[in-house]
Amino acid sequence: MLDQVLASLPRVADPDLLVGFETADDAGVYRLRPDLAIVQTVDFFTPIVDDGWTFGAIAAANALSDVYAMGGKPVTALSILAWPGANDLEDLQEILRGGAEKIHEAGCLLVGGHSVTDPEIKFGYAVTGTVHPARIRTNAHAHAGDVLVLTKPIGTGVIATALKQGIAREEHVRISTDSMLALNRGAAEAIEDLDVHAVTDVTGFGLLGHAREVAMASNVTLEIHASRVPFLPGAVEYARAGALAGGLKNNREFAASCVEGSSEVDDLLYDPQTSGGLLVSLPAKEAAALARRLPAAAEIGSVRTRCDKPIVVR
Ligand code: CO
Ligand code: CO
Repeated sequence: MLDQVLASLPRVADPDLLVGFETADDAGVYRLRPDLAIVQTVDFFTPIVDDGWTFGAIAAANALSDVYAMGGKPVTALSILAWPGANDLEDLQEILRGGAEKIHEAGCLLVGGHSVTDPEIKFGYAVTGTVHPARIRTNAHAHAGDVLVLTKPIGTGVIATALKQGIAREEHVRISTDSMLALNRGAAEAIEDLDVHAVTDVTGFGLLGHAREVAMASNVTLEIHASRVPFLPGAVEYARAGALAGGLKNNREFAASCVEGSSEVDDLLYDPQTSGGLLVSLPAKEAAALARRLPAAAEIGSVRTRCDKPIVVR
């Protein structure tokens, strides 16, 4: 939605704007000096877990993720809060504390924020990071012959929905929560010195939605092997039981015309992720090095020259 509105705005050409919004990348990148650029991103959302501390920490990990996806190091963060009023200040304190601890874990500094009164709670961060202009990771250079690697399992949306419906097992919620709490810093560091062609983080548009952005920006076709995609424990079961997030349907409607083929786990391939992993496109030799460094990373497909559709699912 925002894409369409942004596209209608007048463009101001600036040679130092290294990544703007036209390629639907994770963050904007602006060059300050030949050897220094800033990476800027913002993200906030409504609570997805009951516990305040956990919600705040996940919101922070999720916001930081776009900086890691661009190859940057987070430096400063501003909090963004919508809060119903003077009630439940203890809850609010827990959310802010969880967020601040995660920001701190990332070696990032909380420098301020802004709040508004709103009947619906929303929380997140605007994060600024730094990157050397020659080391920016974007979604626009995936090459035919690359291997696709995903660094976290899929299914946080389905499990959050199952939790709301009262059918999620405690163990499954715990594992999903731990996955959302995990910073993408480790994955970003694991690919730092590798010859990586494209990176994005898998968030609200789901695996196929973000794969589509890589395919479009890079003018290639991404072939996803559904049987190799890792899923969180319980996710397949809850998806079959119909615990599908509202965003999942929208993701499917948006991206389905770009996808050839289907699989038994199609719902999960469109499942909106919160604080999802990195989707990395890189040569096979580099992928082997990544697998040694990050055993949880899964090879889920490959890149082909552009054919009829940007995405093929097998
Ligand atoms: Co992103
Ligand atoms: Co984002």
